[in-house]
Amino acid sequence: MNNELDWAHLSFGYMPTDYNVRCWYRNGKWGEIEVSSSDTVNIHMAATALHYGQEIFEGLKAFRGKDGKIRVFRLEENGARLRRSAEGIMMAPVPEELFREMVLKVVKLNERFIPPYGSGASLYIRPLEIGMSAQVGVKPSTEFMFMILVTPVGPYFKEGFKPTNICIMREFDRVAPKGTGQWKVGGNYAASILAGERAHSLGYSAVLYLDPKEKKYLDECGPANFFAIKDGKYITPASESILPSVTNKSLMQLAEDMGIEVERRHITVDELADITEAAACGTAAVASPVGEIDDLDTGKKYIVSKNGEAGPVTTALYNKLRAIQYGEEEDVHGWNTIVE
Ligand code: PLP
Ligand code: COI
Repeated sequence: MNNELDWAHLSFGYMPTDYNVRCWYRNGKWGEIEVSSSDTVNIHMAATALHYGQEIFEGLKAFRGKDGKIRVFRLEENGARLRRSAEGIMMAPVPEELFREMVLKVVKLNERFIPPYGSGASLYIRPLEIGMSAQVGVKPSTEFMFMILVTPVGPYFKEGFKPTNICIMREFDRVAPKGTGQWKVGGNYAASILAGERAHSLGYSAVLYLDPKEKKYLDECGPANFFAIKDGKYITPASESILPSVTNKSLMQLAEDMGIEVERRHITVDELADITEAAACGTAAVASPVGEIDDLDTGKKYIVSKNGEAGPVTTALYNKLRAIQYGEEEDVHGWNTIVE
């Protein structure tokens, strides 16, 4: 264990660790897994990743459990989404077994950076794939590099599990209606930086995007999905332009397990007037409660949390998810992979 780090006060940032893992795709096949202790990549200046955004990534976490075991949460789901993203922008899909082997290897190699149980922190795992071929025409690479870095992290929003405010701004979309929103493509994030920084400068933690076609329905919340509690039900947007969140899928299952009805459907902005709880959910965000949602175009303010605390359903779901991830409760759905 790395005793010098202040585990309980980590933010969500990059910190160097001992190793990363890499694998090349060349001549139509994946090569051997390479272990590297360098955190730089040598890349051709005409690579498609640099010019045409042929880049996809993932985000998942490893946790040190109550029993000392290391658990990686839902790695198969992240591997499957990475393959869908690859197909979406014509990159070579990383085979399931290769993804699994590389995730487990990089976690094991950096074991001393996995935060101790009880610190509330975790090891963030960031797989990414980039187009490496030199090309000036807009066409797919024939060579790719898949790599995984890890870094210990604390909460994504500095407030942790305290509600933060978010805003609606119709001036910006992060993706197009039939665009790349359902894939984890770097370009989607480039398209969100201006809106995100505008929101931050106005004191909001994130933008609540509307569907880019009609601007009528809720889409997602910055780098996270959105859910709300309305009439005691868990409601979350169904949309072609949002990333299918593994965390949201897990929370929907946990809500059902608790006897809470789940609705995945279009949610209009007006419905925000009747919600009793809301949160941004994702690997980084976990379930970050929302205090207030301000519609900057209409001037309407939807006050979700009246007492500055997360609501009871959000709290129960958050606690349940964390308990499974840290091995405090039985993993009845088989979501964790134990790192041996
Ligand atoms: N939506 C966006 C745009 C994201 O970047 C993320 C983060 O991965 C999510 C949703 C949440 O997805 P997950 O729960 O799989 O991390
Ligand atoms: C994650 O939650 O893993 C993400 O990828 C969000 C990130 C863009 C910070």
